[in-house]
Amino acid sequence: MAHGVIAVVPPGLEAQAAAELESIGALDVQPLRRAVRCRLDLAGLYRAHLRCRLPFRLLYVLASFGCSSREQLYAGVQRAVDWSCWLPPSCSFRVEVSGTVPGLNHSHYSALEVKNALVDWQRQELGDRSDVELEQPDRVLHLHLGQGSRGPMATLCVAGSSESLHRRGYRAAMGLAPLKENLAAGLIDLTGWDGSVPLLDPFCGSGTLLIEAAARALKRPPGLLPGPLAPAHHAQARPFSCLDWPGADLGLWRAEVVAAAEAAVAAASRPLAPVIGWELDAEVLEQARSNVKAADLEPWIALQQGDGRQLEPPEQPGIVVCNPPYGARLGEQEDLRELYFQLGQQLKQRFSGWTLWLLSGNPELTRSLGMKASRRVPVSNGGIDCRWLRYEIR
Ligand SMILES: C[S@@+](CC[C@H](N)C(=O)[O-])C[C@H]1O[C@@H](n2cnc3c(N)ncnc32)[C@H](O)[C@@H]1O
Repeated sequence: MAHGVIAVVPPGLEAQAAAELESIGALDVQPLRRAVRCRLDLAGLYRAHLRCRLPFRLLYVLASFGCSSREQLYAGVQRAVDWSCWLPPSCSFRVEVSGTVPGLNHSHYSALEVKNALVDWQRQELGDRSDVELEQPDRVLHLHLGQGSRGPMATLCVAGSSESLHRRGYRAAMGLAPLKENLAAGLIDLTGWDGSVPLLDPFCGSGTLLIEAAARALKRPPGLLPGPLAPAHHAQARPFSCLDWPGADLGLWRAEVVAAAEAAVAAASRPLAPVIGWELDAEVLEQARSNVKAADLEPWIALQQGDGRQLEPPEQPGIVVCNPPYGARLGEQEDLRELYFQLGQQLKQRFSGWTLWLLSGNPELTRSLGMKASRRVPVSNGGIDCRWLRYEIR
């Protein structure tokens, strides 16, 4: 039976995340702000953990109730579900809170109220209580407070993974200002790149855009452990806390793991058009190499040390993606203006017929490209308001 799930996603990528959830069979999919609401049955929830590239978290809705005071929150949490199944004292937990309602304006106090409601209930009913564990808890509980159609509402959820899903496990090494993996996946999704034309990143840093692009084109499920692709029946997934929930079905989970891995095995021999990254900094380039290796994508991604301004096109036109430095420090701005100007010159001279997608956190620098964007998608990169800009190079 389908159940309410809220996917927490990068701001700006709600429509992409909704389409991704629909593609794995989610029902009643509705994009919200920084989230997508949908319904999934248990197989669909497992599939989403294995295959969806955009969510930070998949939150399984335990209960929704009217809530405009601490007392209502406390009572609503205690009544929400049978906590002896969902949170036995042997399970550690952590509470996260988003949103506010009048009377519950401070996330920290709302989280404390949820914690108190739970441990009081456990002590009273079970004679023992769970530990609060901030790092690797058995259950991450998420409370969202906000206005519903019938007034202030609380929605209490449990996260299907204790770690954020953007951590795929291939990135031990991080460049100077790496993109989160799920943001990179969403940006690539917007380009529509499908592996049939070349993809270049002249400022590739730790390689996130290229890795996510190749992984997507090769149907590598982000929920599997990174590393050499095994035959599907040997595939191993990352550990997800939803497998310890009441009602978990490990046979169903295994079937989803094998099905996701089969798609990757079938795509493994697929030839991709060239995927090439340049990076000026030798140390950062080494990090990109080790990430590409950890993601088992070495045959498909070529990395070179070099100046991205001098990149040369392969014969067939394709897509340039990049996230050049924005330069937070003053004084860097003049050099960066020159960098953007020279990049624009090189693209206009050598890349006719290509498409450029550039992540910009600084409109003044982007103007130095001397090109006119045909599409601007607002996204947030680590809290910085950015635009994913598309340019047709003539
Ligand atoms: C914002 S970071 C890119 C981060 C990357 N998207 C990632 O996820 O790791 C910009 C990168 O451009 C590199 N860089 C700066 N100037 C360059 C140049 N002229 N040519 C090539 N790379 C350059 C920096 O060393 C840095 O790694």
